[in-house]
Amino acid sequence: MDTMSITSTTIIQAKHLRKSYGDVAAVRDLSFTVKAGQVVGLLGPNGAGKTTLVNMLSTLLSIDGGSASVAGYDVATQPDAVRQLIGLAGQSAAIDEKLTARENLELFGRLYKIPRVERQQRIEQLIERFDMTEFADRVAETYSGGQRRRLDVVAALVSNPPALFLDEPTTGLDPRSRAELWAAVEQLASRGTAIVLTTQYLDEADRLADEILIIDRGSVIASGTPESLKRNLERDVLEIHVGIEDLDAACGLIGEVPGLAVDRDAGSIGIPVGEEVDRSLDMLRQLQDGGISILDFQLRRPTLDDVFMSLTGSPATPEEVSA
Ligand SMILES: Nc1ncnc2c1ncn2[C@@H]1O[C@H](COP(=O)(O)OP(=O)(O)OP(=O)(O)O)[C@@H](O)[C@H]1O
Ligand SMILES: [Mg+2]
Repeated sequence: MDTMSITSTTIIQAKHLRKSYGDVAAVRDLSFTVKAGQVVGLLGPNGAGKTTLVNMLSTLLSIDGGSASVAGYDVATQPDAVRQLIGLAGQSAAIDEKLTARENLELFGRLYKIPRVERQQRIEQLIERFDMTEFADRVAETYSGGQRRRLDVVAALVSNPPALFLDEPTTGLDPRSRAELWAAVEQLASRGTAIVLTTQYLDEADRLADEILIIDRGSVIASGTPESLKRNLERDVLEIHVGIEDLDAACGLIGEVPGLAVDRDAGSIGIPVGEEVDRSLDMLRQLQDGGISILDFQLRRPTLDDVFMSLTGSPATPEEVSA
C-alpha cells in the first residue's frame, strides 16, 4: 500500500514480547512496529501465537516479558488510554447476542464516548457499507456465522481508531464480504490507520500487508514485504498432478528433495526445480517411465505458500472453519 503520502509515525510498537501458558511458550521474544497507514500481516499456522500476541497488544492479556505501546501509551501501565485508541475484532466475538447489530454498534460507540449525532451517522454508514441493513435490527443470536463475523469487524471500526487489530477477520466470510472487508482495510490504511492483521490466508496477506511476519511456535521466522519473501525463494516450482492412488509411488520415484510439497487431498506434488528446464523434463520422464500417469503439470513462480512451506515444513492451508 502507498504510505508515502502519510506520516511515518510509529503507532504500534512491540519489544521482546513474551507470553507463556504454563509450560507452553506461546510468544517468545517478538518485536515489531506498525507505522501510521501501514498494514502488518501476522501469518502463521494454528497455535503459532497470533491471537496471544494480538491480545497482549490490545490489553486483553497480561504481558510476561518485554513491552508494548500504542501511540506512545504503554499497554501494561496505561491500558485505559490504549483501549481508547484501538479497535479490535478478535477471534472470539465481542458482540452481545441478545442485542441487534444497531444496538451493539451503539454500545461500542458509547463505550468510546463518540458524540450522539456523529455516532449515529457513523453507524448508519457502516451498516450500509457492509451490507448489514437486512439483519441490522434482528438480535445477533439469529445471525449466520458470516453475519456475526461482519458485525464483529464493523464494531471495531465504530470509533475510527488510529490502531486496529483484526484477528483472522475474513474467516467464515463469503467472497463478497471478504472483498468488502479488504477494500475497507485498504481504505483505512490509506487514511493513516495502523493495522495488525492476522491471517492464515496467504492471498489475503499478499494483497493487504505492507510487511509480513511469518510466525511459527511463538517466534518470527521470516519477515519482509510479500514481494521480497517470494523473491528470496529463488526457484520455480514444478507442480505435478497424479491420481491419488499413484501419489506414494510418485513420491518414491522422486525421492528426497528439499522443499518438496505433497498435497494428499489434491493428489499433487510441488517440486522446487530452480530454473533448469531440463530438470523438470527429466522428472516428468522419470515418473512416466515408472508407470505413473500424469494428469496435469505446470511450472510456476513461487507463491507465499511455497515460502511458508519451505520455512515451516508444512502447508499454511487453513482448515475449513465455519465461524
Ligand atoms: N488460555 C490458554 N491456556 C493454555 N494455552 C493456551 C491458551 N491460549 C493459547 N494457548 C496456547 O498457546 C499457543 C498459541 O495460541 P494462539 O491462540 O495464540 O495461536 P494462534 O496463532 O492464534 O492460532 P489460531 O490460528 O488457531 O488462531 C498454542 O499452543 C495454544 O494452545
Ligand atoms: Mg488465533
